[in-house]
Order: sequence, then structure tokens, then C-alpha cells
Amino acid sequence: MKVLVADDDIIVRKLLNKLLSSWGYQVVLAADGDEAWKVLNDSDPPQIAVLDWVMSGKTGIEICAECQKAGLSVYRILLTAKEKDEEMMYALDQGAHDFKSKPIKPEILKSRLAVGKRLVEAIQDTMRAERLAAVGSLVAGVAHHFNNLNLPVLMYASSILKKTDLDTKTRKKVEKIEKAAIEAGDLTEKLMSIASNKHQKKELADLNHLTNDAIEINSITFDKDEISVRTDLKSIPKVLIDINDIRHVVVNLLGNACHALIASPEKKIIIKTGMENNQLYLQVTDTGCGIAANKLQKIFSPFYSEKGEFAEPESPFYKVKGVGIGLYASKNIATDHGGDITVKSQVGHGSTFTLWLPVA
Ligand SMILES: Nc1ncnc2c1ncn2[C@@H]1O[C@H](COP(=O)(O)OP(=O)(O)OP(=O)(O)O)[C@@H](O)[C@H]1O
Ligand SMILES: [Mg+2]
Repeated sequence: MKVLVADDDIIVRKLLNKLLSSWGYQVVLAADGDEAWKVLNDSDPPQIAVLDWVMSGKTGIEICAECQKAGLSVYRILLTAKEKDEEMMYALDQGAHDFKSKPIKPEILKSRLAVGKRLVEAIQDTMRAERLAAVGSLVAGVAHHFNNLNLPVLMYASSILKKTDLDTKTRKKVEKIEKAAIEAGDLTEKLMSIASNKHQKKELADLNHLTNDAIEINSITFDKDEISVRTDLKSIPKVLIDINDIRHVVVNLLGNACHALIASPEKKIIIKTGMENNQLYLQVTDTGCGIAANKLQKIFSPFYSEKGEFAEPESPFYKVKGVGIGLYASKNIATDHGGDITVKSQVGHGSTFTLWLPVA
């Protein structure tokens, strides 16, 4: 994390630079208040500022007040020779987040900086989540309108193809239109699933029944890719779910498993259901390419995909398409149901994704 140290005393600057760098911070130095203000208004400003109160140019207090006025979110620690309570209260009132009298013990400064870092990270996390939610509903809204425009294209292309008197050239062209419209429809459906479904229609459902439905939906791919599917579905109580949403999750997991098996000598998928620790589970295991440990968290991020254009030419995922929404949307659906999706994987041996749902 980037930290600005502004102090007109070169010895203090050097000392703080050495200490903060040794604690892993990226230090930016300013020799007076005007220079500090310039740094804080850069395109990539520091997230924490350690400011002297009295400096040439703007004072530390003036910088705090101006940051507050301009809405700059930098975490401001005032480090000063002043030590009266009234001075501390004045500094905090003016916009400082923390106040410490000099001389400061290095370990205390280290702890104060750690507090600042935690706060900055928490704010960044919240902002990221809010931005994602906003982007999500925007994308889903656009996708919805696009889908409405795409439907007549698909309908008319399909109805033209039903004609028997089409010449070969025209038929080929219309087939291309139909194929593109089908792909556009798949894509928009995925994009629409990003927005959280606030209108879930929950009902008591049989997870085993739903699993068999999802297998049926993927059966053409299983046959085409010669994938053997084994099920081990235990007798479990009904669960309160939005059937369409949860079926969507299982179809996604099965689709990913099929892609993972593309280059595997052993093409097996095992689907299990059962109950553990008062939770129902549905587990999809494949004997596919597996996922590296450092990617196990990333795969649930929106738009994270290693397929198609995101894949290296030698990757088994090179020839399949991916948007990177399947797992993100599936995890959201699972958490909206009070459940979760967990994953275990070993590169070269396969993966197991488990959907957990609370017992109704
Ligand atoms: N069973 C699996 N085996 C190996 N890698 C997997 C598996 N499931 C997911 N992944 C990895 O996680 C990434 C993200 O998966 P996700 O389903 O979110 O997106 P996608 O499949 O790439 O695209 P789509 O939006 O069409 O589902 C995949 O691109 C792939 O790299
Ligand atoms: Mg997927």
C-alpha cells in the first residue's frame, strides 16, 4: 500500500522512509505541504498520509481540511510535536483520522498504520462490491433488452428455414443467422443471470429429481463427448428452493465438468446428493484437468474465464467458449438460498464442486 510521508525535517523523512519501507509500505516523500497536496491529487495517489502539522506551504491541518472538502478518501495520520487534548480534538475536527504526538515509538506507528490499512481495504472492498452490483444490474438490463431484440431474429430465421423451396446459398446464409442468434441468446441468458434474483419463487422440491433434469439437459453433450455419468443419489428430504435457479446451478456445474474433460483420457462425472451436518449437498466430481490452488478463489469472480479467447492455444479450453459468469452467478444463487458452493481440486486429477443448501 502506498503511504505519503510529508515532513519538512529531512531526518524525520529519512527515518520514516526506512521504517515504513521495512514494514512493506511503498513510501512517497514530500518535503513540504504544497508538495504533499500535489502528490495527493495525482492520478494514482497514496491511500494513507502521515502528515506533519507545521510545515512550510500548506500545514498538515490545512491538508486534512482540504482533503475532507474535496472528498479525497486518503487516511490521514497527523504526526506532530503538539500534544494538548484540545489540539488533538481540533485536528480530528478538521479532518484528520488519527493524531499522534512526536516522538512516536516505531511499534506504535506500525500499529496505527495497520489500522489505517485495514480501514482503507474495508472501504475498497465495499466500493468494489457496490460497483459490481451496479455493473451487474446494468449488464443484466441491457442483456434483457438485447434478448427481446434477438428473439424475432431467431424466430424469423427458424421459420424461413422451414421453407422447402430455399436455394442452397440462401439456406446456408440463414442457417448462419440462426446459429448466431442462438449463441447471442445463450450469452444474454448468462448475462441476465448476473443480477441477483430478488423475486425468487421458492417451493419445496426434490433435489434428486432436479439433478436428473439437469443430467437430461446435458445428455446430448455427454453422448457426443463420450462422457460416462454415474449418480449416487441418497434419499434426502425436500428442500425449499427456486427450482429454475438451482437447476441453472447444476447445469452450470455439469457444463464446466464436460469442458474440464475435453482432453482427459478418463471421461467420468460422478454426481452425488446427500446430507451432512444438517445441510443437503449436491456434488459434481469430474476426472478432468483440475484447477491450480492459486485459482480456486478467482474462479468465482465475475468475468473470470480461462476458456476460448482467454485460453492459451495449447489449453484444453481453447476451443470452447466462456464468459466467466457461470460460477459467479451460481455462487450468488447458492448464497441467496442460505447455502454455498465449495470446491476441491487437484491439477491433472479433476475437481469436485459441492452445492450446499440448508434443510427446509
Ligand atoms: N470443473 C472444472 N474443472 C476445471 N476448471 C474449471 C471447472 N469449473 C470451472 N473451472 C474454471 O473456472 C473458470 C470459471 O468458470 P465459470 O463457469 O464461472 O465460467 P466459464 O465456464 O469460463 O464461462 P461461462 O460464463 O460460460 O460459464 C473456468 O473458465 C475454468 O477455468
Ligand atoms: Mg461455466
